[in-house]
Amino acid sequence: MAVNTKIALVTGGSRGLGKNMAIAIAKKGIDVIITYHSKKDEAEEVVKEIENLGQRADAIQLNVAESSTFDSFLEEVSNSLKNIFKTDKFDFLVNNAGIGIHNSFAETTEAEFDQLTNIHFKGPFFLTQKALPILNDGGGIVNISSGLARFSFPGYAAYASMKGAIETLTQYQAKELGERKIRVNIVAPGAIETDFGGGAVRDNDEINKMIAGLTALGRVGLPDDIGGVVAFLCSEESRWVNGQRIEVSGGIFL
Ligand SMILES: NC(=O)c1ccc[n+]([C@@H]2O[C@H](COP(=O)([O-])OP(=O)(O)OC[C@H]3O[C@@H](n4cnc5c(N)ncnc54)[C@H](OP(=O)(O)O)[C@@H]3O)[C@@H](O)[C@H]2O)c1
Repeated sequence: MAVNTKIALVTGGSRGLGKNMAIAIAKKGIDVIITYHSKKDEAEEVVKEIENLGQRADAIQLNVAESSTFDSFLEEVSNSLKNIFKTDKFDFLVNNAGIGIHNSFAETTEAEFDQLTNIHFKGPFFLTQKALPILNDGGGIVNISSGLARFSFPGYAAYASMKGAIETLTQYQAKELGERKIRVNIVAPGAIETDFGGGAVRDNDEINKMIAGLTALGRVGLPDDIGGVVAFLCSEESRWVNGQRIEVSGGIFL
C-alpha cells in the first residue's frame, strides 16, 4: 500500500448514493471511511466491498442531526486514522447523508423544518468546520445538493431550501479554504432510484415515468450515475474545479 494513499470520509455511505460514491472513490485508489446512522450491517458490507477492491476502509456511526456528538465522532475518526490508516489526517470529506421529507410549504411543521435543517444544513456546516483540523491541505470537500434547489417542485419547500443554503455555503467554503488549497464543490443529483423519500422514485411507477418524461435523457437516475462524478471531484483530474455546482440529472427541467 502506497504510504501517501489519499483517504475520503463519506457520510451516509451505508446505502444509496453514499455507498455508490464510496465504492467509486475506492476505485480511484483512495481509501474510504464511511459513516452510517442505523444500518451497521450494510455499512460493514460496503467496507468489505471496498477492501475487496484493494483499499483500506472503516465504518463509523454518525447522526449528522446531532452536532453535539461531532467532537466524539471526530475523535473516533482520529482513532481510525491512527489505527487502520496509519496517519492522522484525511483528504476528502463528502457530506452526503440525508433524508427526504415531503410536505407542502403550507403544511410543513416546525419539527420537520428543524429536522431538515439539522441534517441537511447545520450538520454539514459544523461537521465540516470541526473536521478542518484533521483535513489535509490540498484536499477537497464535496457537498450534496439536489436539482430541487434550481427548480421548484411542489412538496419540497423546506428540503430544497436547505439544499439552497448548502449551495451558498459551498461558495464561501471554496473562497475561505482556498488559502489551504482545499477545493469545495457541490453535486446536485436529479431524482435517483434509492431508498430516499420512501423509495418513491424507484418503486412508484407513476412517479418514475413522470420524472423520466421531464428529463432530456428520458429516464430517472441510478446511483451509478452519481458516484463517479463525486469520485472525479476527489481526484487530481479535477484539481482546477472549485466552487462549482455540478448538476447530475440527465437534464431535468431544461
Ligand atoms: N435519491 C435522490 O433522488 C436524491 C436526489 C437529490 C439529492 N439527494 C441527496 O443525496 C443524499 C443521499 O441520498 P440517498 O438517495 O442515497 O438516500 P438513502 O438511500 O435514503 O440513504 C441515506 C443515507 O444517509 C444516512 N442517514 C440518514 N439519516 C442520517 C442521519 N440523521 N445522520 C447520519 N446519516 C444519516 C443513511 O444511513 P443508514 O443507512 O445507517 O440509515 C444512509 O446511509 C442526500 O443528501 C439526499 O438529499 C438524493
